Amino acid sequence: MANSYLKSESKKLATWYFTVAATLFGAQLLFGLVAAIQYVMPGFLFEILDFSVARMLHINALVVWMVFAMFGSVYWLLPDETGIETVGIGLGKLLFWIFTAAVTVVVLVYIFVQVGPADETSIWFIHEGREYIEAPRWADFGITVVALGFVANLFMTGMKGNRSGIVTVLMADMIAFAGLYLTGMFYTDNISVDQFWWWWVIHLWVEATWEVFVGAIAAYGLITMIGAHRKVVEMWLWIEVSMLFGSGILGMGHHYFWIGTPEYWWEIGALFSALEPLPLVAMFIHVLYDWGKMQGEQDAQGKEISVITNRPAFTWFVLNAFGNFLGAGIWGFFHTLPQVNLYTHGTQFTSAHGHLAFFGAYATILVGMMYLAVQGKNGIKILHNTRSTIFATSMIVGGVVGMTVALTIAGYSDVIISRAQMGATWAGSRNGMETINGYHYICRIPILS
Ligand code: HEM
Ligand code: HEM
Ligand SMILES: [Fe+2]
Repeated sequence: MANSYLKSESKKLATWYFTVAATLFGAQLLFGLVAAIQYVMPGFLFEILDFSVARMLHINALVVWMVFAMFGSVYWLLPDETGIETVGIGLGKLLFWIFTAAVTVVVLVYIFVQVGPADETSIWFIHEGREYIEAPRWADFGITVVALGFVANLFMTGMKGNRSGIVTVLMADMIAFAGLYLTGMFYTDNISVDQFWWWWVIHLWVEATWEVFVGAIAAYGLITMIGAHRKVVEMWLWIEVSMLFGSGILGMGHHYFWIGTPEYWWEIGALFSALEPLPLVAMFIHVLYDWGKMQGEQDAQGKEISVITNRPAFTWFVLNAFGNFLGAGIWGFFHTLPQVNLYTHGTQFTSAHGHLAFFGAYATILVGMMYLAVQGKNGIKILHNTRSTIFATSMIVGGVVGMTVALTIAGYSDVIISRAQMGATWAGSRNGMETINGYHYICRIPILS
């Protein structure tokens, strides 16, 4: 790979991570498309790549590309923040290849083997059957080693170089991020216990550690792209971190309403998850306020008001502020109270929220980081938006918004027919099948179709 403008090995490694991430993002969309076609044409690729397999590939690729892009982002910003080259970069590169090879093998097994016998061999060598993080156990151990190596690099660099607020937050956050993965690895045949721990990874990742990561990246982006004052940005960061952990950790109760966990989770989940949108409002204000303030300062000095050094990246960072707030904050809040969740649980409404939240909170800012890498790699002083960046951005944002609206409407019809009118009964779900989103059920329960 030609990296002529990059002096730092850490930044080179970051571009490798971003390249794999972008490729997996493409794969994610491809398998999402297959699953979507199967909604309308249930026979499409039947017994070749069934809905269950396409869906698994779609959402596992989602998680993995985001983790790759997160590692890439950290390797990208470390030399800037610490003022030194990343310590242990050779190890970092080796782990990158191990990670990429493991992911390739896992994906090939998903595609070509798909299912195994219902015993330990499947868990070890095919997949674990845990939504979003289905990697078989051999790969789980590999991923754990890779994650520990990554955290070690981050720590060694942070200890040796300048430890900014951003780096300190990332150090704490990434330890939690790696540690939580372990809670999704062990086996129990009690489905309630299994779900209880599985949410520790899924929920505590996206609603605690990943959100804190986004706060740190947003802070870095604001300093890099518009020259925001570090003191102000890092003050916001600490406020956001405490609010995110404060609400996100016990907010996990919103997944403990109906899985057999004690009923006190209703109150805990309701209260803390209802507070979760607050830090997202803070992050929204943070980005837009700092931007406005910097422009005002430039204006007062008689300079041109636009001080953005990478417009495509900045566009994606602003989209992140909106998307995080809407997808996670508003769409999440909609169904987070047990009184509402009783009706919306497991309907298309969940999918509407899942799409807008993952896209709005994470895809956006990670694509933004990729644009920063494109700029750095090619030695561009100021990166402008072009027709193709504007076209691409509008198409993908328009697509996700369109999907969210459609899924929300489908969610309403689910709620009315399968829940409000007929209760959560077998007849209710059968009746729901005859509506516009009927194929969804037929695909999921092929035995009935
Ligand atoms: C960026 C952050 C977030 C992401 C990526 C995200 C993503 C998701 C996804 C993918 C699901 C479906 C999980 C499944 O397959 O069962 C889900 C469920 C849920 N989310 Fe979020 N979410 C985020 C933040 C929030 C917030 C802030 C709230 C509340 C204010 C919230 C409330 C819920 C609830 C109540 C459910 C359960 C839905 C059900 O009953 O099936 N989420 N989330
Ligand atoms: C070409 C665009 C896409 C298509 C056609 C598509 C289609 C689908 C389909 C058909 C499902 C299965 C829903 C079900 O279980 O009934 C799904 C699930 C999901 N997709 Fe997508 N998707 C696309 C893009 C995305 C993007 C960009 C993201 C996030 C960045 C995303 C995140 C998810 C998540 C989190 C789920 C699981 C939702 C849940 O079970 O609640 N998808 N998608
Ligand atoms: Fe959650």
